[in-house]
Amino acid sequence: MNNREELKRRAADAAVVQVRSGMVLGLGSGTTVAYALQRLAELLRAGKIENVCGVPSSIHTEIQARQLGIPLTSLDRCPVLDLTIDGADEVDPDLNLIKGGGGALLREKILAQASRRTVFIVDQSKLSPRLGSHWPLPVEVIHFAVKSIENYLTSIGASVELRQTTEDNLFRTDQNNVILDANFGPIKKARELATKLADRAGIVAHGLFLNMADEVIVAEEHAVRHLRR
Ligand code: A5P
Repeated sequence: MNNREELKRRAADAAVVQVRSGMVLGLGSGTTVAYALQRLAELLRAGKIENVCGVPSSIHTEIQARQLGIPLTSLDRCPVLDLTIDGADEVDPDLNLIKGGGGALLREKILAQASRRTVFIVDQSKLSPRLGSHWPLPVEVIHFAVKSIENYLTSIGASVELRQTTEDNLFRTDQNNVILDANFGPIKKARELATKLADRAGIVAHGLFLNMADEVIVAEEHAVRHLRR
């Protein structure tokens, strides 16, 4: 395991320590969450925690969780989650986040907002002085509106790319929408931008997660830090 993967695993393990028997969990998406799922499955197999079930934030996570034998439920059955564990692409000093690198931002945001508590797990490379410094903002859009939203995002200062898969096909989210990756550079007024994006018909979700993290666990070379609001 290379160093970065080791850091992800450490952040994930530190989050899973917070899982208690009987909890309903929101299960985020991404490579860091994959380590949390593995750890959770180990603890369940060992009988160290029991009666836990999860609501997956993506089809990919659902498949991983099923393969690991983690019991799953739905948001319909459990509309209030005890704890959501998820990854992030960028974390600012106020614990605001950019998410959606894997395209699961809509369901991830739904789970975060349905949770009593949220913990985001990252390695140190995700820390950023200002959101947008390292990562474009993923914006999920219905296909019908893609050109018009692309123009809109450009008009408010972004350079925009329509996300493709590695095979050069159009990337589709689990909702069958598309993603525009909008590079605004460092975002000065994130709340203002979030409101603008939320107001625009055709935008289904955007990757600004503002005031949604109760805790961010950052794995660094020599320590695991717990940043709390
Ligand atoms: C998925 O849509 C994302 O929000 C992920 O949570 C985020 O991209 C972090 O992924 P990694 O843990 O793979 O970096």
